[in-house]
Amino acid sequence: MVKAILFDLDGTLIDTLADIAGAMNRTFASFDLPSQPLSVYVKLVGGGSKNMVETLVPGHLDKQKVFAHYLMDYEQHSLVETRAYPGVHEALRHFQQAGLKLAVVTNKHHQQAVSLLKSLFPDIHFHAVQGVVEGIAKKPHPQMADTVLAQIDCKAEQCLYVGDTITDMKTAQAAGIPSVYVRWGYGEGSLDGQAPDFEIAEISQLPVLVQAPSDQEGKTMTLLAKNKAVPDKSAIAEKLIPVMQSYLVAGEQDKFVGQGAALLLSQLHFFIEQALPLEFILPGFPCKSPNDVDKSFSVMPDYGEVRAIERLDEFAGQLNEIYPPGCRVTILSDGTTFSDVVCVSEENKEAYKKALRSLTVTENISWADLTALLAPVKDNAAALSSEAKRKALVNRVASGPRAFEKFVNKVKGDSEQARVHDKLCSYLYHDIHLERFSEGDRDSYLESISEKAYQMMYRGRALSAGIEQAYPHHIRLSVHQYDNAGPKFTFALTDHQQKSISPWHTVPVRLLNGQYLQLPHSLAKEKQLAKVTLGQDNWLYLEVPATEFSRYQYQVIKGPKFGLKISAPQGLGYEIFSAGFLQQLSEEFGFVVLTKAGFEQQEQLLDFCQPFGDIYQWEFGPVHVVRPKEKPDGFVHSIEKTPLHWDLSMLPAGDKYVEQNPRFAASTFMLYCQTPPAAGEGQTTLVDSRMALKIAGQEKVNLWRETDITYQTKMTYFGGVPRSYPLVFKHPKTGEDIFRYQEGSELEMQKFLLSSERLSGQAFDDFIKDVNAIAYDERCLVAHEWQAGDLVIIDNLYTLHGRLPMSEKSMARELWRVQCFN
Ligand SMILES: [Fe+2]
Repeated sequence: MVKAILFDLDGTLIDTLADIAGAMNRTFASFDLPSQPLSVYVKLVGGGSKNMVETLVPGHLDKQKVFAHYLMDYEQHSLVETRAYPGVHEALRHFQQAGLKLAVVTNKHHQQAVSLLKSLFPDIHFHAVQGVVEGIAKKPHPQMADTVLAQIDCKAEQCLYVGDTITDMKTAQAAGIPSVYVRWGYGEGSLDGQAPDFEIAEISQLPVLVQAPSDQEGKTMTLLAKNKAVPDKSAIAEKLIPVMQSYLVAGEQDKFVGQGAALLLSQLHFFIEQALPLEFILPGFPCKSPNDVDKSFSVMPDYGEVRAIERLDEFAGQLNEIYPPGCRVTILSDGTTFSDVVCVSEENKEAYKKALRSLTVTENISWADLTALLAPVKDNAAALSSEAKRKALVNRVASGPRAFEKFVNKVKGDSEQARVHDKLCSYLYHDIHLERFSEGDRDSYLESISEKAYQMMYRGRALSAGIEQAYPHHIRLSVHQYDNAGPKFTFALTDHQQKSISPWHTVPVRLLNGQYLQLPHSLAKEKQLAKVTLGQDNWLYLEVPATEFSRYQYQVIKGPKFGLKISAPQGLGYEIFSAGFLQQLSEEFGFVVLTKAGFEQQEQLLDFCQPFGDIYQWEFGPVHVVRPKEKPDGFVHSIEKTPLHWDLSMLPAGDKYVEQNPRFAASTFMLYCQTPPAAGEGQTTLVDSRMALKIAGQEKVNLWRETDITYQTKMTYFGGVPRSYPLVFKHPKTGEDIFRYQEGSELEMQKFLLSSERLSGQAFDDFIKDVNAIAYDERCLVAHEWQAGDLVIIDNLYTLHGRLPMSEKSMARELWRVQCFN
């Protein structure tokens, strides 16, 4: 990744030409010289104003005097029409936040450049500015760029040079900096054979280059072909199409290729032309099916909703990677339109809606409801009752008195519509048949179903029209099966790409092989399952190896999926749980707690740990007894807080395991609670690092991957050799990004110090503050309250851990720790 960007000023960051030309023409007038048109200045601006005077002022005049006059005039009029180019200021802010160093190299007079930057970009800190001064050769000589590189302490190949003229491209080449030619400036595309490394048409394309991968030596761009133009608008749209297609449900009659893709392309162009974020709208997630026997198993969202939203989020994330202005998916979660028809209470519908919103982590997803459709036509729409909202909705498309009856007759007379009605009847029959006995005899029940189906069609039509009016340019995603010819595209909310499956009509099942399925409750129950709850709610089914497993209690500790607590029924132990099964679960949930595991001897714990891999042998043996000491020699054996870390991170570089694998660490470790601390203190903190990376967002994750942190502590078992790790690197087995961070400590008894080559001083402190805030975000942190006999199996790659401080009351706290690796 790029570490710094050097910008040319005139024609690249700011449009200065009109003010330069104005000052020059006023100067010429006072020397009785003719004015020049803008077209003349455009050609000369790259060489600087002195060069302009040299070229345009005849030899018999004192050019020095003319130039001095110009400088004075320009100083007073340099901000009359001068503006930053569209998007430039935002882009500079973006790069600044990402920790890049910014610099300017210009043939403008040095002081003028400095004061223009101060006026136009007051909140941007330029690490170096080099304008024309005595003693430094002007561009295209590389001396100015070289001076800047020395000031910002970067190598040429770690930077980009961005400019609009052939002078800039020559400068970059001479200085060895990868060059980016911008098409919006004064260069007018004439590069006279001087090929830039990259070419962009708008500033929004620059982040794509900045994020380009670097090679092992940190050289940026070597993976990218020389003289590669950044994809233009239609090339970007072309790249978005296959991503979109990969998330659609493709039935047998699918018409996406050709028909749907062509329509989508034109829709995408609308956003891309204006450099706007792509907008999608998906009506869905209305409320749970009330049939919790055959279809769902909860009135609240469960892990099925989480996975569906994750898929939408991942979809948006992939589009973001291609298209820098980004992408937003609005989910129109509207239970109100149909809730009375499908017999879902107001209370359940509202609870579902509220809980859904807490499931989104990133900015990619936003939520809307019926109010958003009614707002343009109804004052204070949010305050209306559900009944009034439904009325307002259908009134928007109703055609006079007895509109509903007329609609029903029309449906009856149209064979295709009548088929839709039949289908809806069958669907409703299944969805609400648990309610039928309160509805009287079978005939009148069927009659009521038919009526409800007409209502659904009538309201559905109004809903569709409302969406079109409220979101005219949004790309329509749907959970219903269409042929993808557009304008509605069927989004696959599950991995199942042939059929549209909604989590609100099914239950999530984790199969023994780790795959997930959404199954109707009736079908799921044909498998051997254990139910997992989150709080009071049903959350997920685990397929288990035998029926006995269903007798245990399974709870997720932190939603959506961090920490699985398993409790054995009275009198039973955990012998039936194989190490393989528990390891799978600890990888997936980050950690597994077995309550009242009851090991009396350390040997029993070791026997339990054996199948999880090789056991790390300390000088004192394989079991580390963690207990506060009267005179502690470090935080681990004290009552102070233990900062976040991962286990075996500080082995010295000469260790035999580290020599084989520089990123050697425990894969799993166990903590067994022999004696708990006093209540409310000494909890083990566990960080869900997958969630932490999600909270951080893609941009930070990219930056963290490039940021090495060096950790140093004098007092460890390992002799205090500093170790360096990037904040994010790949999981050795799955290839997923993992968050590898260790928190610093300023404790006198044991300092744990952090530093980085990339950042220093205040910038480093701010950076670490941000990392800490994310690691301690309550969405990814569990503080485990120990109970005697708890055994916690922790995946050391997907989690970080530490300990909260304790008082003297917890001096007897004793945990046994065993580290396994494989
Ligand atoms: Fe540890």
